[in-house]
Amino acid sequence: MRMNKDVIIACDFSSGGEVCDFLGLFREEARKPFVKIGMELFYAEGPAIVREIKRRGHRVFLDLKLHDIPNTVRKAMRVLSGLDVDMVNVHAAGTVAMMEAALEGLTRPDGSRPLLVAVTQLTSTSEERMQSELLIGASMEDTIACYALNARKAGLDGVVCSPREAGLVKEMCGSGFITVTPGIRFEGASADDQVRITTPARARELGSDFIVVGRPVTAAPDPVAAYRKCIQDFLSCNEK
Ligand code: C5P
Repeated sequence: MRMNKDVIIACDFSSGGEVCDFLGLFREEARKPFVKIGMELFYAEGPAIVREIKRRGHRVFLDLKLHDIPNTVRKAMRVLSGLDVDMVNVHAAGTVAMMEAALEGLTRPDGSRPLLVAVTQLTSTSEERMQSELLIGASMEDTIACYALNARKAGLDGVVCSPREAGLVKEMCGSGFITVTPGIRFEGASADDQVRITTPARARELGSDFIVVGRPVTAAPDPVAAYRKCIQDFLSCNEK
């Protein structure tokens, strides 16, 4: 299984036409960007859009955040594994048993499978709401550390977290445990609806393996230039 570092573009578009027009901008790139397909696009276009993006040579993170009983998740993962995506995810809140079932469903008869990561706590959930609404009495940091350890125990490859938590996750779960981190903005840019933001260079320093970047690239006047800047800032030191 390939373990590396990369920039993943969050293709949060509502139609296949829009995403294909957008990805067409990158046709001259020697290495096609790794893209994230979320619920909006997948529910609108179904598996066909995944196959089309794979056919164009992109790696795909299918961000469907599965969270259900183990048997349902196992069977759903078996279907997703047939789509030949490169990364998929579940909610760690589904428990170790659910994550183990996800891994089992995802693993093909030849032993190969996409990377499987678990969402710890959504970055839209504050510690206060987690405690008052979800009745989780622990701190956000302790909750994330516990969820990451559960994901590792279930045999997953890593977690989705904020870059600020990447160091903690590595400390708890080892340097080979992958951290996939959204909430990325260039210096001085608008945070939009993100609360805890980090630049690509800072995410690299904090130990992120994959940064997930949406609007700073998709809404940029020149998306290809913005993507190249992310690559430069995030990967430059690692490539030396
Ligand atoms: O446009 P922006 O860079 O904020 O996009 C971030 C992407 O990462 C979105 O697709 C969002 O759904 C996703 N994400 C996130 N925070 C999480 C998990 C996923 O922002 N905790």
